[in-house]
Amino acid sequence: MRTAAVVPAAGRGERLGPGGPKALRLLAGEPLLVHAVRALGSVVDLVVVAAPPAPGAAEEVDALLRPVVGPARLVVVAGGGTRQESVRLALAVLPAEVTGVLVHDAARPLAPAGLARSVLAALDGGADAVIPALPVTDTVKLVDAAERVVQTVDRSVLRAVQTPQGFRRDVLAQAHGAPGADRLEATDDAGLVERLGLPVLVVPGSEEAFKVTRPLDLALAEAVLAARAGRS
Ligand code: CTP
Ligand code: MG
Repeated sequence: MRTAAVVPAAGRGERLGPGGPKALRLLAGEPLLVHAVRALGSVVDLVVVAAPPAPGAAEEVDALLRPVVGPARLVVVAGGGTRQESVRLALAVLPAEVTGVLVHDAARPLAPAGLARSVLAALDGGADAVIPALPVTDTVKLVDAAERVVQTVDRSVLRAVQTPQGFRRDVLAQAHGAPGADRLEATDDAGLVERLGLPVLVVPGSEEAFKVTRPLDLALAEAVLAARAGRS
């Protein structure tokens, strides 16, 4: 299997607060995107990054990543107005020989390389679509429009989903190209595959693959890196 990682990195990071595109915000002195790509470069043959659409950003991102991408090839494209659009723009430049694709958020900088490997292994084992996920630890309630509780949901059947998500290339292309897919605003790629009625396999996620969304997540990421440094 020839593999590529598609990395959507074009978001603004509004929930993180002021300070520029989230993928370029610093974590232990390096942009989130650098951490994310360093882990993937040792696992796949090609990394395609959807950079912030601002003028010059793609060139800046290319220069930033070239020293850290390792043995993988690197291609940087300008991202779009939504995550889904950014993924679509990156998929459009995949060379014909790629048969397996990981899609990984730049906003999950500490997802271990081993997680990407386990997703690829499940693809190799014959799955069409593979997602890493963890059990939900909070109690989850369904509410109505007035914030009144309707019901407590059985959390034993719920999973919190992460990236990297893995797909057979043709399946992912079909999911993103399906009629009306551009109007769905799916928050992950597996959601589009589900719409095709195809099976999506869940594998164990990693606590370190959490998404940096709000300022507290950045503080947690700093602490995880400090703990890793202490262990090595
Ligand atoms: N993303 C993207 N293109 C967009 C929007 C999001 O490539 N137009 C990417 C982000 O860069 C991120 C991933 O999708 O790596 C997950 O999105 P999210 O965590 O929502 O990041 P942001 O959209 O940047 O954050 P916010 O929603 O707080 O603005
Ligand atoms: Mg967003």
